[in-house]
Amino acid sequence: MFSIVEERRGDRIAVGTLARLSLGNRLTDSPAARMRAGADPAPGLSLVALENGEPVGTIRYWPVTVGAGVKAIQLGPVAIHPDRRGRGLSRILIRDSLARARSLGHRVVVLIGDPSIYGRYGFEPARPRGIVLPESEDLDRLQVLALAPGALDGLSGTVRPDTIPRLRAARTTA
Ligand SMILES: CC(C)(COP(=O)(O)OP(=O)(O)OC[C@H]1O[C@@H](n2cnc3c(N)ncnc32)[C@H](O)[C@@H]1OP(=O)(O)O)[C@@H](O)C(=O)NCCC(=O)NCCS
Repeated sequence: MFSIVEERRGDRIAVGTLARLSLGNRLTDSPAARMRAGADPAPGLSLVALENGEPVGTIRYWPVTVGAGVKAIQLGPVAIHPDRRGRGLSRILIRDSLARARSLGHRVVVLIGDPSIYGRYGFEPARPRGIVLPESEDLDRLQVLALAPGALDGLSGTVRPDTIPRLRAARTTA
């Protein structure tokens, strides 16, 4: 029996293990990883799939900006334990978290991933819209989704980590 809950503090080690198991080096060495570096996950959107109380699936989102500072969130990683794949768990995690993101007021989601996986959720290639990454690696895997009508209209530019408020806060308290 599976359930989906918000990630709890005690899930962090299991979630890290799941993500490493699923993504290998790309968890820490990839354009997506560099976008997450130094950021905290977007609040309320880190979900885990539990089986008998143990995390067997994870999804997280990260704050980013597009172009001239338009707020967005970056989906990923999404990882399912190898023994639990093919049962619709990632579909539930992705759909549930996108619904939560919409209800929290997020308007744009980006991700770097396989288009054959994410097209079914409404993601489309970002490059034709002029939405790009700071580096050329993985540019063709960058995808984008509007959570609100018109959210992608006229949106273009580079996706960047949105870590400035946290850095400012750290300086203020230093
Ligand atoms: C990719 C991954 C998250 C899929 O999880 P899962 O729980 O097995 O997927 P689901 O059973 O929920 O499948 C949902 C849909 O995605 C499709 N799908 C699953 N894995 C896929 C893949 N590798 N390529 C294309 N489609 C895939 C399924 O066929 C299913 O399609 P449907 O909605 O038409 O029935 C999982 O295999 C995994 O953790 N892989 C390693 C980490 C990874 O690659 N993460 C994604 C980074 S881009």
